[in-house]
Amino acid sequence: MTAPSGATRGSWATRAGFLLAAVGSAVGLGNMWRFAYKASEGGGAAFVVVYLLIVALVGVPLMTSEFIVGRLAQESPARAVRRLGGPAWTPLGWLFVFCGVGILAYYSVIAGWTMRYAIDAIRNSIPSDTGAYFAEVSQGPDAALYHLVFMVLTTVVVAGGVKGGLERANLIMMPLLFLILVGLAIWATTLPNGGSGYAYYLRPDPAKIFSADVLTAAAGQSFFSLSLGMGALMTYASYLKSQENLAREALTVALSDFGVAFVAGLIVFPVIFNFGLLDRVGESTVGALFIALPAGFDQLGRTGDYVDTAFFVMLLFAALTSAISLLEVVVAALVDGARMRRRDAAIAAGFAITILGLPAAFNTTFLGNLDAFVGQFLLIVGGLCTAFLVGYRILPQADAELARGLDNVGLRRFWAWLVRYVAPVVLIVVLGFLAKPTWQAVVGLVTYAR
Ligand code: TRP
Repeated sequence: MTAPSGATRGSWATRAGFLLAAVGSAVGLGNMWRFAYKASEGGGAAFVVVYLLIVALVGVPLMTSEFIVGRLAQESPARAVRRLGGPAWTPLGWLFVFCGVGILAYYSVIAGWTMRYAIDAIRNSIPSDTGAYFAEVSQGPDAALYHLVFMVLTTVVVAGGVKGGLERANLIMMPLLFLILVGLAIWATTLPNGGSGYAYYLRPDPAKIFSADVLTAAAGQSFFSLSLGMGALMTYASYLKSQENLAREALTVALSDFGVAFVAGLIVFPVIFNFGLLDRVGESTVGALFIALPAGFDQLGRTGDYVDTAFFVMLLFAALTSAISLLEVVVAALVDGARMRRRDAAIAAGFAITILGLPAAFNTTFLGNLDAFVGQFLLIVGGLCTAFLVGYRILPQADAELARGLDNVGLRRFWAWLVRYVAPVVLIVVLGFLAKPTWQAVVGLVTYAR
């Protein structure tokens, strides 16, 4: 079996292009919407500490592993795991594709709300009653329509190829995203009553450091936020040709991702507290972002008209650069596995996912359950399998691939130790804690609960 040649698969033009795309995949709605919310729930700074530990001990070594498999195989994850691991690993490849489809199906619905908010913010037509507005935007025909538009956008980028589509889109959107983020964070410091927001976000609650809930929340959040467990970053690394130190690249991506999530919280909470909107956060899981924040912006008058535009445009960029990495996993599988032309593969996959996302566009409970099952549970399963594949099945090969850019034997041993022992233990414990909520989510999915 020969891997398709680089000419037909495509590759990154520059190292910065690859890094920016990987950061673009990681930085997404998860950073803006869930991180701050979970931190405030999970003991503030205590959550941040647990989160950082998980990222360092599990996230970075696993991301390094995904990078290694991708660059080593030079083909789509769905095929790579089978070729490297043997036929018994075929189901893992299918799991990756299943997760890509399952996550994008609902991710695109939330991205659709974001797009609607961005457009209405530009037109200054977000009403003052943001609760009612969100209810109208978030489920029903409107949600379906914007989900469709967002999927078309994502499909167009992915159809454009690695250099002309993915790399170019990230090269334009990511710097703008950083600029807006920093601008908004500085602006947030000028809010007269924002101080208690910082305190609420980060006040440490040491009692929570050792709680199962916080560990589970931090693990789930880190996998989703770092785009781990379903071959997204593996796919991106399969377009790499160079000798980069893959562990350092993983560290860079993880730190950037954390940085953005952390700074986003420094925007969200001061705004919410400045206007005393905390009670509105609980109205839905995404209440902070889509209900409380725009209500705060609304009270700012003319300044608010600019600030809300900046915020939702930033969110839209974050969503789009993540969505293209999800679609790319599916498209790469079709291009490498079924020998389809990239454009046809993008259209076929984009179309199928648009249809499969419709139930989530009409029912936010379904959306939440899909997120719990695929976006949390299955990602951890995928990450655990990846750790076994790399740590036990192909370790010598993987180590040699890592050595191309990292000649420090001690660091490579440390990496292998984390992948073989630390990551599996942590992930199995987390899977245990997730069993019950996952079961409830699956029941909710099959009954289409409301
Ligand atoms: N990381 C993105 C976010 O935080 C979402 C995402 C993109 C993702 N690609 C992924 C999550 C792959 C899991 C797997 O919003």
